[in-house]
Amino acid sequence: MARKIVVTSGKGGVGKTTVTANLGVQLAKRGERVIVCDLDFGLNNVDVVLGVEHRAVYDVVDVVEGRCRPKQALIRHPQYPTLYVLASNRLSERYVSPQAVRLVLDSLAPQFDYLLIDSPAGIEEGFHRAVSSAEEALVVTTSHISALRDADRVSTMLNSYRLKRTGLVVNMVRKDLIRRGEVLSPEEISSALRLPLVAVLPEEDRVLLHNVAERSRAFRILAQMLSCENFGNEKWKTGRKLR
Ligand SMILES: Nc1ncnc2c1ncn2[C@@H]1O[C@H](COP(=O)(O)OP(=O)(O)OP(=O)(O)O)[C@@H](O)[C@H]1O
Ligand SMILES: [Mg+2]
Repeated sequence: MARKIVVTSGKGGVGKTTVTANLGVQLAKRGERVIVCDLDFGLNNVDVVLGVEHRAVYDVVDVVEGRCRPKQALIRHPQYPTLYVLASNRLSERYVSPQAVRLVLDSLAPQFDYLLIDSPAGIEEGFHRAVSSAEEALVVTTSHISALRDADRVSTMLNSYRLKRTGLVVNMVRKDLIRRGEVLSPEEISSALRLPLVAVLPEEDRVLLHNVAERSRAFRILAQMLSCENFGNEKWKTGRKLR
């Protein structure tokens, strides 16, 4: 039965889609069966980041509205045979209930190990739809104060969902700024937000997925961290060797 993990943030542009897609690749490279579900309606770009946009025939709304079966909407990645993408709809004004999406994901879950859900920025309907379909959450933030404030709001909102666990990913980290005391360190961010730190991802020159998939140690470690059943517990902490 798949673990259903939503990747969320509050603030836009902090790296949710990058994290979701790269994590999907890394888990698939470990042999896990993964679906990357794009629930960012309107601004959907998971298929593009993963390079499968030309293969998309159906999307999640087609499934919800009965035009195809859930499995028919899955796009198999040409390079990673256990990685699939469930594309989202380009029409942001379309109303799709959280329950309907949840049913679709629940029907796919038994045949997979991970369902990674890319959520839209903000805390409105799309956020609710994405989080309602998940059992665990990763909050992505950068060190910028505006991102931290939004991550704090999101983490508070996540408390009202019955999630098994929530972890923190600090993205676009620049050691030089931390050393100079210009931004908080990932550990400081983790304690300020009261969220266990799952991964620290450096700012990279190019985060185009196919390159990162080959060379990013950070994303590999993120995949490893997630594979520890309970991030946040002692076993998880001792396995954590990020920088
Ligand atoms: N660690 C990183 N280093 C450098 N650039 C990054 C990093 N992570 C993400 N980016 C870049 O930042 C931009 C925004 O990333 P991404 O689209 O993943 O954010 P997002 O949170 O999904 O945005 P949105 O809220 O619009 O959905 C992209 O151009 C991406 O390549
Ligand atoms: Mg995104």
